[in-house]
Amino acid sequence: MGRMLISGAQRFSTTLLKSIPSCRPQNNLLSLKSHPRPFRPFTTSVATAPAMSAASLPAAVESLSLHTTSETSKFPNSFPSLNPVDIYRGHIAEKLGEAAGIEPEKIYSRLQWTNSLDKGDLVLPVPSLQIKGKKPAELCEELAAKFPESDLVTPNAFGPHLQFFFKPAPLTKTVIAQILKDKTTYGSNGNQGLRDPQDPSKGRKKIIVEFSSPNIAKPFHAGHLRSTIIGGFLANLYTVLGWDVTKMNYLGDWGKQYGLLANGYKKFGDEEKLLKDPINHLFDVYVKINAIVSEQDPAIKELKEQIKTKKEKSEDVAELETELAKLVDVSEDEKARRYFKSMEDGDADALALWRRFRDLSIAKYRETYARLNIDFDVYSGESQIKQESMASANETLTKSGVSEQSEGAVIVDFVKHGAKKLGKAIIVRKDGTPLYLTRDIGAILEREEAYHFDKMIYVVAAQQDLHLAQLFKITELMGYKDLASRCQHINFGMVRGMSTRKGTVKFLDDILRDVADKMHEVMKKNETKYEQIENPVETADILGITSVMVQDMSGKRINGYDFNLDAMTSFEGDTGPYLQYAHARLCSIVRKAELNVEDLPTANLDLLTEPHAVDLIRQLASWPDVVINTSKTLEPTTILTYLFRMTHILSSGYDTLKVVGSEPEVKKARLALYECARQVLHNGMRILGLTPVKRM
Ligand code: ARG
Repeated sequence: MGRMLISGAQRFSTTLLKSIPSCRPQNNLLSLKSHPRPFRPFTTSVATAPAMSAASLPAAVESLSLHTTSETSKFPNSFPSLNPVDIYRGHIAEKLGEAAGIEPEKIYSRLQWTNSLDKGDLVLPVPSLQIKGKKPAELCEELAAKFPESDLVTPNAFGPHLQFFFKPAPLTKTVIAQILKDKTTYGSNGNQGLRDPQDPSKGRKKIIVEFSSPNIAKPFHAGHLRSTIIGGFLANLYTVLGWDVTKMNYLGDWGKQYGLLANGYKKFGDEEKLLKDPINHLFDVYVKINAIVSEQDPAIKELKEQIKTKKEKSEDVAELETELAKLVDVSEDEKARRYFKSMEDGDADALALWRRFRDLSIAKYRETYARLNIDFDVYSGESQIKQESMASANETLTKSGVSEQSEGAVIVDFVKHGAKKLGKAIIVRKDGTPLYLTRDIGAILEREEAYHFDKMIYVVAAQQDLHLAQLFKITELMGYKDLASRCQHINFGMVRGMSTRKGTVKFLDDILRDVADKMHEVMKKNETKYEQIENPVETADILGITSVMVQDMSGKRINGYDFNLDAMTSFEGDTGPYLQYAHARLCSIVRKAELNVEDLPTANLDLLTEPHAVDLIRQLASWPDVVINTSKTLEPTTILTYLFRMTHILSSGYDTLKVVGSEPEVKKARLALYECARQVLHNGMRILGLTPVKRM
């Protein structure tokens, strides 16, 4: 086994692609990366937001690293130099194939993961071989008996399942050597993202992950928070799988409400407040101006009612109509409409103010996203969609008879196109203005044109299932079936009860501040420990963010959950703090052992024989497979479940696998194991977007 690996390492040249997403300027508000041109003509104007001072710059978002290999294998998607389990798959396929006269490729592709270690490390469901004439259980017994003596695995027939248990000694050596060598890249696999796995010169596949997408001057609600967490995770996942990832934020930054906001600002705005806290200040202004609208509305409605009733009775309404016109004319709603119209018409002053609001909000968002380890490549938004794109889509839809006129508006009746469930959708309003859906149609076409992506993911709440289904269907009906097939809606359920402790409206920053405060309280309860923490405020902040994110990623995406501050900040159970604690404890073990981590590869691993050690190693061996499996489920919980399982094995083994007080050789071997566990935990947490803490 050892020999096999050494020759393997010589044969395969492995390249390390480092820090792909990190090298972007942080204060370039509208990222133009691989963006041929900002979409609207006026976006070329110089951003009016002040460049962030060095002090206000968020800590640079840490980048992820990944591994690729130029090795080739007779088995598809097999990379033994990156994934130790691939060595075992190859071995089982060859040996069993030869002994039983079955094509090795067939066996290779049928080998599956197990759900728990007692079921083996790999399993071959015998019925999947589709060999006729024998009962699966009997055939399974037969195959187990035929399997030749092996250095690597022990077969075990279990009903129709042929289980394979990896033999501890060679597995230990392979896995620990691999992790100590690969470090942060263990589990990554840059080959997955190659356009043509046989020919790397054809480049990497391109993916756009659109996520977060809040609305300027409106609360950043739970839906945006979930989109941010899940989207950040997906972007990381595709990055470590070698895809070329573009992280896009599609802001709600256009529409009549920005006319309202601008007028509101003229009444209630405060320069100083705007610069200091643009998101909250703009929201304040928006609330105030909306209150005026609500005051004015009833009188207008009332008049309209009166006119209607009079008209029905064929009475004269001229006077009332003049009165109505006067009221409407001075109403904030009408002023907003006019202001927005001037924005649509390209009025420079109107646009400059709007652009300032947008830029300042983005600058603020950037800082908050950085706390979540996220940096967007592109701040797009509804405002960026060109009139021409929408007009040309509209034309295509009309010409092809997909859309139709209905009471002055343009609609698509999906029922007529074989998609009953999608109902009807308005594409152009009676007054000729586009809608949310119309902009998304323009956007999908512009993105196709600008990025030529292989895949695009929209991370949006399940409440918008219909919206995205309509978008994809229209794309298809316009004749872009292939484009539609490359797009995917990643949805998620609702968070219930997310409000600040004060009960006020929530912006992301407020939520994060709240959890950090709570976490700080929890930490203070353990006085002795608390005193040892160098930077308690910063630690509380990271732990708080971890709490929120882990709670969010614990279940399947589609399940909603209750936002429960007490539960998420607890150290009991599978929580964020528990995960961080597991990481900090491993760091502390490594620190206290006072051995050089670089010396660990020379440890005598034959000394790791305890069942706890062996189970932990088997668990560590499966990490690269867990990453691949996650690329199929696209569920953060796939990774989180794995990490918790691993930390449970860890904590139940601490009493047996002591480091302090052990013989020097034993100490070194155990330390190698703990260092590997720490590394895998670190790597997993990083894909989830968490910042592993070293002390807490
Ligand atoms: N801004 C939208 C909202 O808050 C979400 C945007 C989702 N993305 C999209 N392409 N429609 O509801």
